[in-house]
Amino acid sequence: MNPTPLSLQRLIDFGKNALESNAFYFLRRELPIRLANIMQEFQYLPERLIKTPSIHELKSWYKKSFMELLEFETADCYSMENLRHFCHVISGINQRHAGLRRKMTQGIEEMGDKADIGEISERNIHYFLTRLYTTRISVRLLITQHNLLFDKKKWPPEQTLVGSIDTACDLVKIINNAYDDAKILCTKHFSACPHLEMDIVNFHGYQFTYVPFHLYIMLFELFKNSMRAVVEAHLDGKYPPIHVLVIRGNENICIKIQDKGGGIPRSQLGLMWKFWRTTSPETYAPGTEGSFTGTGDGLPLAQIYARYLQGNIILASYDGYGSDIIIYLKASASDMSEVLPVFNKECSKRYLEADISHDWSVPRHLLNPLISEEKL
Ligand SMILES: Nc1ncnc2c1ncn2[C@@H]1O[C@H](COP(=O)(O)OP(=O)(O)OP(=O)(O)O)[C@@H](O)[C@H]1O
Ligand SMILES: [Mg+2]
Repeated sequence: MNPTPLSLQRLIDFGKNALESNAFYFLRRELPIRLANIMQEFQYLPERLIKTPSIHELKSWYKKSFMELLEFETADCYSMENLRHFCHVISGINQRHAGLRRKMTQGIEEMGDKADIGEISERNIHYFLTRLYTTRISVRLLITQHNLLFDKKKWPPEQTLVGSIDTACDLVKIINNAYDDAKILCTKHFSACPHLEMDIVNFHGYQFTYVPFHLYIMLFELFKNSMRAVVEAHLDGKYPPIHVLVIRGNENICIKIQDKGGGIPRSQLGLMWKFWRTTSPETYAPGTEGSFTGTGDGLPLAQIYARYLQGNIILASYDGYGSDIIIYLKASASDMSEVLPVFNKECSKRYLEADISHDWSVPRHLLNPLISEEKL
């Protein structure tokens, strides 16, 4: 069964008008479908990874959550007791899966030397993670929406918020918050931090709908990267500012982050979007307290958040000078429809496909790093 993608507008309408029993009726079917789709893909992970204790445990979380949801399959939608119990169970599911990134990283560590894993296995892990994290974002959003809206105790009565979606997002505030939080870590790490400059075009009086937390995560990751690049590229201590440009068009909102942090050579650009690729001298597991860089999943994760609601993040780099990183978002909540992984024949084919890169005189990854990454 395929998942049913929702747009932010539908989630808002649902949040404002739907009865708890209707929401329950939808979620008790939709959540297990989303979990089941990604659970099928575990089988395509390299055997070395599947056999690790951490991935074994991770799979058991999915199985447990799936089984817990199935118990509501025929439950009475109008029973108050069932509705309360459902809120409790799904909030437990969110808690159980909270350590997903850390657990996944542990699995990779347990797998042993990453260097000899092979190109196809690496491609498959990257493809899987992109889909696993997309599913996670979507499931968390649905669960958080439900609990914020119907588990009244937790619901702050701010009018522009519908669950965790804000129909009047204060973009400047989110940018400043993400910058300030990244700045704290940067200053702790380097005892210095570049300033922020911001220009905003076409936003006057415009109400922008988004999940503020998602945007915050993207900006936070991108600011950390730009800050590090700028500080490391300017050993004289004269740090050029990071410049942010926010533009609203009819169809898109673009947030451009420009830094003069030396850029990335084109040959390296594609690799930077892969998980665990870092040029940081220290490496950390995700969520390690106070870590500023070194996990190697900041960029791919930020891009997954953007793509989840039909946006994207691209990086244009000028080797020896700096980078422009652009976050594209849809301008209208009706256009922000979830992009969800579907497990089907096409997906299996992607995992099983051997690399066919012998139709040029150089390997595909050298041909055009960006194009070959897009194919992942
Ligand atoms: N603005 C930038 N300028 C120069 N290099 C960059 C920039 N953004 C990213 N990079 C390069 O891309 C790599 C990957 O970035 P990513 O955010 O995914 O991981 P990280 O910053 O190393 O670790 P973390 O996951 O903890 O953020 C970085 O290590 C860095 O080499
Ligand atoms: Mg980073």
